[in-house]
Formats: sequence, structure tokens, C-alpha cells
Amino acid sequence: DANEALYQRKTRPEYIPGRIDDPDYVRIFDTTLRDGEQSPGATLTSAEKLEIAQNLARLGVDIIEAGFPIASPDDFNAVKQIADIVGNDVFDDGYVPVICGLSRANDRDIQAAWDAVKGAIRPRVHTFIATSPIHMETKLNKTPDEVVAIAVHAVEFAKSLGCTDIEFSPEDAGRSDPEFLYRILSEVIKAGATTLNIPDTTGWNMPWEFGALINKLRENVEGAENVIFSTHCQNDLGLATANSLAGALNGARQLECTINGIGERAGNASLEEIVMALSLKGSTHFDEGMGIGSGKLYTAINPVHITPTSKMVSEYTGMACQPHKAIVGANAFQHESGIHQDGMIKNKSTYEIMTPESIGLMRGEQQSGAGIVLGKHSGRNAVGTRLKELGYDLDVDKLNAVFKRFKQVAERKKGGLEDDDLEALVSDQAGLSN
Ligand code: KIV
Repeated sequence: DANEALYQRKTRPEYIPGRIDDPDYVRIFDTTLRDGEQSPGATLTSAEKLEIAQNLARLGVDIIEAGFPIASPDDFNAVKQIADIVGNDVFDDGYVPVICGLSRANDRDIQAAWDAVKGAIRPRVHTFIATSPIHMETKLNKTPDEVVAIAVHAVEFAKSLGCTDIEFSPEDAGRSDPEFLYRILSEVIKAGATTLNIPDTTGWNMPWEFGALINKLRENVEGAENVIFSTHCQNDLGLATANSLAGALNGARQLECTINGIGERAGNASLEEIVMALSLKGSTHFDEGMGIGSGKLYTAINPVHITPTSKMVSEYTGMACQPHKAIVGANAFQHESGIHQDGMIKNKSTYEIMTPESIGLMRGEQQSGAGIVLGKHSGRNAVGTRLKELGYDLDVDKLNAVFKRFKQVAERKKGGLEDDDLEALVSDQAGLSN
């Protein structure tokens, strides 16, 4: 496959908090274990979190947000265990993920986050405070000046503990006044923040609005050239992946996401969508004329671990993906209509823009060799091909007769016919013609 080279894990630039030496490199920050676990009903045990974190490391994610340590003793212990085990497991190529803990902008939260992650080789504290008028006035009951002071103190406090990798998020940035964002972000950089994460907390932005916001922040925040800009896009309008990519197009070099796109309400940007979009299109369609890098955006994710990780997250959270979910849904590589099946039998690239193997899904795990579902829209070619695979080489008249009966049965059978059903049709037909 022409795209096969893209699926290998790439050599990643050296990890330096707040700096990326290769301007085309996009860091993947996975928050399945924090924002993802905030999906209603998706509670995970410490053991499950550890196993998922180990799979995230196999995928090669740059930063694992392991939890919200102040939230409960269990969460603290889970984050600490991940920091101590996964955060110290160095791969042969020198890669070890950053382990991050979330905290509100107060000393108690930050202390807990630091205590939980500090055993990792690369620990990060992520602190946040809301900056939109509605959040500051009605949720925090604070003036903008007070919010700036709290944010600056939070970053300084994290630094005073010995943390050198500090992420700051202005919560609800997507509905905040850009002028206020310039001010607060300039101040937290001076205080020691190394990553500025821009959350579209309510999924309110259109891709062009969110991209323009990232661009404006990079131009107007003092010291912007010394930090990494990051996106954190919620999916309330189904735009989380598009908004994250628009952020990358405008210079964000860390994208926050979750496996299967789980998260608060309608979820978060999905890791598999972002990674495969950048993997398939990042080399040709991004950054042209932006003056940042050569226009070949890439991540260091090895997508062959996507399917096992997606299945593990579904099983442990109890949240199944909808069948038509991009990349990891059960139907993502299935073909039902006769025209599509005919194309697939002749050349799989007619209807598949990536191979299932490239995301760790083996063709054998699907209904037939070509990912073909034999249902009421299927054509004679698909039925004949499957019968041949099963060892039945029927002449034209017999195939026509079996196919006629197949159509009658398929009209009534939801989910398509299995191999047993097809074999029954062939033996019925043989019985009739004897
Ligand atoms: O959605 C959000 O704003 C968040 C921040 C804490 C990053 O989850």
C-alpha cells in the first residue's frame, strides 16, 4: 500500500517542555483517563487505568493525562501508579511518555497533582481557571483582575514545587474575550507556563473561528514563541476533530484528544480521527503558506495499536462505539451495497482510504475476506465471490438460482447473511434441482 510508510512510528524530536525543535511535529496529548473518564458512567478502576495507560504508551502518545488527583484518593493512587510504572518505562528508542495530572488553580489541587506525577521521568502539572465572562461572573464570582492573579499564582506555585513542565488552560477559551486571553496568557508565560492549552470547552467554535483564535493568540501573546500552543476541543456540534485540525493548521503543536472520542457530554476530539487524518493528509494539505515548518505535519503515533486500545477502552468504560464511528466503528471497513462490493472485490482502494490492517484490524475479524456484508443491497459478484471462498464453484444457472433466493432471504434478515446461511441456500438449491 502506497501509504504504508506513514503508518510506522516516526522518530520524535527530543522532549523539551515548552519547545519543539521540529516545527512540523505535532504532540498527541491523550486525556482518555481524565476527560474521557468524565463521560457519564465511564468510571475506571486503577488496574484498568494502568492497562489503558500501557496501551497509550504502545501507541506512542507524547503526554498521558492520567487523572485529576485531588478528585479522590483512588484517582490520586491511579495517577501515581501510572507515573511510577508507565512514566518510568523507557522504550528502546528512548521514548517515555510525559505523565500529567490536572488541578484547579489552587495550592491544594496543585500539590496533589505534583505529588501524584513527580515519580515519572517526565512529570507535568496541568492547571486551569475559567476566563469567559459567563464563567468568571456566575461560576467563579471573580473579576478578570482576580482571575489573572489566581492563574499567575497557580503557575508560580507549581514552579516552586520543582515542576518545570507546566500547562495552563483558560477554561472556556472558545467563548472568552481574545484581548483578555492575550493578557492572562502573557502573564502565565512570565510565571513559568510552558504549554498553553486553548479549550473550546463547550464545543462552540466553527473550525475557521477556532483556527483564527489560535493564530491570533500566537501573534498577540507576549512570549508565544517560547511555548507550545495546544487545542482541547469538545464535540457538542460534532466539530471537535475539525477544530483540532484547524488549530494545527494555525500553529498548535499539541492536540488533546481521547480514544473513541469519549468525554464530557458529546465527548472530545477523537485520537484515532486526528492521528489518521494527519497520517493520511498531514503531509500534503496542511500549513501551506503559514510560514511555520515545511508543511508536513506528523505525529509519532503508531496506528497499529489503535484497534486494541479502542476495544479495551470500550470494554472497560462500558461505552460501545456507534457502528458508523469513523476509524474504529464496527462498520468502518464493511461494505454492503452491490456497487461498492463489486469495486472492493476488484480493488480495495475504490472504497477504502486506509487499510484495516494499518489500524490493527485484521480482515479475518470481519465477516468475509473483503469486509463485505452480504445483505439486501449486495450483488451477484459479491455472493459468487464469497461462495467461491467457501469452496462452491457454481455454474451461471446455479448461481443465478441461489442469488434469486438470496435476495428474498436478505430482504428479511437484518445484519446480513452469515456463511452458514449461504451454505444452506446452496444445499436447498441442490435439493431442488435433484
Ligand atoms: O474542557 C475543558 O475546558 C477542560 C480543561 C480543564 C482543559 O477539560
